[in-house]
Amino acid sequence: MTDDYEYFKKQIQLMTGIDLSSYKENQMKRRLDSMLVRNKLKNYQEYVSVLRSDRAKLDEFVSYMTINVSEFWRNGEQWDVLDLYILPKLLKPEGIKVWSAACSTGDEPYSLVMLLAKYLPLHKIKVLATDIDKQILQKAREGIYTQRSLKGLPDSYKSRYFTEISPGLAAISEDIKRCVTFKEHDLLKDPYPVGCDLILCRNVLIYFTNEAKERIYSNFNKSLNKGGVLFLGNTEQILYPAEHNFTLISSFFYKKQ
Ligand SMILES: C[S@@+](CC[C@H](N)C(=O)[O-])C[C@H]1O[C@@H](n2cnc3c(N)ncnc32)[C@H](O)[C@@H]1O
Repeated sequence: MTDDYEYFKKQIQLMTGIDLSSYKENQMKRRLDSMLVRNKLKNYQEYVSVLRSDRAKLDEFVSYMTINVSEFWRNGEQWDVLDLYILPKLLKPEGIKVWSAACSTGDEPYSLVMLLAKYLPLHKIKVLATDIDKQILQKAREGIYTQRSLKGLPDSYKSRYFTEISPGLAAISEDIKRCVTFKEHDLLKDPYPVGCDLILCRNVLIYFTNEAKERIYSNFNKSLNKGGVLFLGNTEQILYPAEHNFTLISSFFYKKQ
């Protein structure tokens, strides 16, 4: 089975460029096994043959393996910390450079624009939002959401920036959309943007091996300006931040030294 998995990883890398060796193996295998059951396949080799001949199945695989769950204002208490304690020290009159890495359906970068709009005119707000999954980026660009994704968002933002387009579905305003640039980016292999003041990378590091995480922390550090801040998800933490030139300034917020 291990050899099978090695073969599978190699083939996926050839077909998609995604390096599954940097994702936690047990977690990946569990998801992969449930894909085999779902597709009524006996082993990884059979799955590779299907993925080679069926583009839609390959896209489905990428979406399933990369886990796209997201929501607006996810873990709201952290957004309050960002609003009250972090942003006031980062904001500059000319605006700040912000990157939402592994942004999934766009809930996170759009939440950020709505928050920044409290402090800056929209034309000064530019958020780069990236993800490895092309299909999810297309959904993010469309900007249409269910009530479930919006449940944690404060009502003032909902009423100001969303229009109901059918029962249970709302579209985000074009003004907010214009502030976000969506781009494909693999945290494991693509060059990182530089000169950032704030990076959000939430709820993706948990899927990576420790070695991959270490590389990513160092890359984020290089991406940030001095004093810039990295904002992680609620189950993620850098164990030895000083080793990566970071200081913990509040739970889940790390400042570049
Ligand atoms: C659970 S979602 C997190 C979305 C959002 N940050 C949040 O916290 O709500 C994880 C996202 O990470 C993306 N992802 C997985 N591996 C990645 C990689 N190597 N590079 C960039 N994004 C990746 C997935 O496509 C998915 O959209």
